[in-house]
Amino acid sequence: MVIENGDLLPEKKREQIIAESGFMKRILEDVIKVAKSHASVFISGESGTGKEVIAHLLHIKSPRCEGPFVKVNCAAIPEALLESEFFGHEKGAFTGAIAKRLGRFELANKGTLLLDEISEIPLSMQSKLLRAVQELEFERIGGVNLIKVDIRFISTSNRNMKETVEQKLFREDLYYRLNVVPIRLPALRERKEDILPLAEHFLHRLCPENKKTFSSKAQELLVEYPWPGNIRELANVIERTVVMDSSSIIEPEHLELEFCPIKSTTACLSLEEVERRHILETLTACDQNRTKAARVLGISIRTLRNKLKSF
Ligand SMILES: Nc1ncnc2c1ncn2[C@@H]1O[C@H](COP(=O)(O)OP(=O)(O)OP(=O)(O)O)[C@@H](O)[C@H]1O
Ligand SMILES: [Mg+2]
Repeated sequence: MVIENGDLLPEKKREQIIAESGFMKRILEDVIKVAKSHASVFISGESGTGKEVIAHLLHIKSPRCEGPFVKVNCAAIPEALLESEFFGHEKGAFTGAIAKRLGRFELANKGTLLLDEISEIPLSMQSKLLRAVQELEFERIGGVNLIKVDIRFISTSNRNMKETVEQKLFREDLYYRLNVVPIRLPALRERKEDILPLAEHFLHRLCPENKKTFSSKAQELLVEYPWPGNIRELANVIERTVVMDSSSIIEPEHLELEFCPIKSTTACLSLEEVERRHILETLTACDQNRTKAARVLGISIRTLRNKLKSF
């Protein structure tokens, strides 16, 4: 299943959303359904699972699609600037406010506001945010006029929000206000059927002439790998492989996976080669200290010396 994210966007900005697993197909169906409503949506999931992609799809498929889609990265904005970033300020409101500035709430009027990584907002700001989300009205800093807006909220977080609320790091009332419809994006290792279609998609995007393919061993490794960085990590691995390696068939060793379990990288190697690699890696980890390496490997220093000689 492939969904075009943004029939209304210029071709260059359009994105294809790949979903082969039953898990993701159901999520996309829910997204299309909920997009029609005005309900606030809370998207959770590990880093790189596609929270922003889904947020954008919600906007594009909503009746607000011709309105603005505005994003605030709550984790990246220093606490002191957050209020002005949300609500804007009047000229002279504080030192350095040399001109009037509109905040993201005003810019998102008649559209969608994406509160990205919402869990990172300091408590002091959460009560001001709650009021604006509830009442859909606020004042610019230093201003007296009440500004009314019509906004649909989408929030994202890669934290366990229930725990964050329990630990009193996030206001419960604000969480329930934003979490009318929850969407949990599964980690890539929970939806393995998506891995190869995504890998092929990224490969095709980088080599549109289809000059490269994955060997069957490389495909096995891609499916087996746990992908701690999820889809973003997969996209990066494919890009690095395309840049660094010119061969037309991508083999497991070209993929250079960071947390690769020994079983996967060595699946196509002889026992002798596995032993050789393991000994050399242990030596590197022991700063070339043979006594230490022999102890770690559980062999005598003499056996280690003999093995190294045979290599
Ligand atoms: N279903 C999908 N099909 C194709 N590409 C996808 C899909 N989901 C995510 N991607 C791509 O994976 C990358 C990460 O997606 P995104 O930025 O939406 O993740 P995220 O969950 O917001 O990550 P973070 O928590 O780190 O902000 C992007 O390059 C995005 O285009
Ligand atoms: Mg994101």
